[in-house]
Amino acid sequence: MDLAQRRLLIPPVPPRPTHELSFFQFLRAARTNALTLWTEAAYQEQVLRHRFFGRTHMLINEPAAVHHILVDNPTNYRRSPASIRILRPITGYGLLLSEGEDWRRQRRIIGPALAPRSLPLLARHIVACTREALAVFEAQAGEPVDLLGAMQSLALDIAGRSMFSLEMRHYGAAMRRMLNEYGVTYARPRLWDIVLPPSVPTLRDIGRRRFQHRWMSLMAEIMQARLAAPATDTPRDLFDLLHAARDPETGKGFSSEQLRDQIATLILAGHETTAVALFWSLFLLANAPDEQRRVADEANSVAIAPDRVMDAVPGLIRTRAVLNESLRLYPPAFTLVREAIKADRAGPIDVPRHSVLMIAPWVLHRHQRLWHDPDAFDPDRFMPDAPAPARFAYMPFGAGPRVCVGAQFALTEATLALAMMVRRFEITLAETEPVRPVAVVTTQPSRRPLFHLRAR
Ligand code: HEM
Repeated sequence: MDLAQRRLLIPPVPPRPTHELSFFQFLRAARTNALTLWTEAAYQEQVLRHRFFGRTHMLINEPAAVHHILVDNPTNYRRSPASIRILRPITGYGLLLSEGEDWRRQRRIIGPALAPRSLPLLARHIVACTREALAVFEAQAGEPVDLLGAMQSLALDIAGRSMFSLEMRHYGAAMRRMLNEYGVTYARPRLWDIVLPPSVPTLRDIGRRRFQHRWMSLMAEIMQARLAAPATDTPRDLFDLLHAARDPETGKGFSSEQLRDQIATLILAGHETTAVALFWSLFLLANAPDEQRRVADEANSVAIAPDRVMDAVPGLIRTRAVLNESLRLYPPAFTLVREAIKADRAGPIDVPRHSVLMIAPWVLHRHQRLWHDPDAFDPDRFMPDAPAPARFAYMPFGAGPRVCVGAQFALTEATLALAMMVRRFEITLAETEPVRPVAVVTTQPSRRPLFHLRAR
């Protein structure tokens, strides 16, 4: 059956450039909207190569090469200098930017705290925060709502509460202000961020270091407030889990500085990604009322009891399919960037030493050889009876040993929050002006559209 017969929604995308970009056009696109980096060829070919300033840059869509880089030989591929400059001020020396033995040790300690057995503990915080957000929408009684802002506040509240159990009202505003400042002022890559090695500071790095000092002081202040709360016998939150966690090989845990950097890392890596995943899911459902009704019916048929929240998740099959499809069409982490330490051969591709590699979920998720109707919103692709996507065609959380450590938490959070939102409100767009995706740090909407929320 063709698209017209099935009446599938084709959600908005930015225009694709008609010719390959020069280095300066490439740089401008990376600063303003990375989704405009790739021509039509990127969505059809296995690999695209460019040379900028004597360095090879490659976009890789070839599954054997992706497997080699991310799974078989990941130690040959480090984070790029631009990623390090941009993320270091806000994640410090936490898991995201660590490499080698230091990374392995950190991952051994953090992994278990975010494993499926921790989810019941975290899910309680997810449901409590979402209930409060729903009460705020109800109190606004029919006023149009900025759902991007609302999902950012909700995700930050969930990240903060599942980390610290503290009411985030006190710190949430300061955190959001600083995260905005970081996004606007420091997160956009500039020429020198890309071409200089990380050991050579750029002018912007001076501001970034000052920012790092202020941000880490705020993290330390929240940690102190949390440590002042009376101890309990059972863990209350991620802070308790991480505080008590030990490396199974050495028996050692994190120092307080290391713990602070992990907390900053988990809050940064976790909240904005989940907020935009929720926003895009709601945006798609607002544009697909039949699908929205299906999700509302499913969510209504499932009990979300505060003390048995995880029992609800297996019943939310359609909700999860919508979320998976939204992560396909608008992957919050639109591209993974690596620098090759040594020359290598990745599947059929020769990788020169120090070349820059991009593995882009945005491109893979819309690649014409990998998907049927790649630009259409079709949650059926992720229903249990549908065939599995092609290998490495779908990777919103990355792949291999550095796959997202918070993936299960994020999926649980977004599935529950989406179900709770849609069963309570019928959600429609309050305006008709177009909204397009824009990617700088995460895949955001080009503006903040308003929505009507009508109680069901
Ligand atoms: C929808 C939400 C999320 C998406 C789409 C997402 C996506 C990703 C991706 C693609 C990576 C791999 C990056 C790479 O290989 O370069 C990653 C890594 C990571 N994510 Fe997530 N993430 C999400 C939520 C979360 C949450 C909730 C947390 C924490 C609670 C988290 C913590 C991390 C950390 C610490 C890493 C680095 C792992 C490592 O290097 O070992 N993420 N994430």
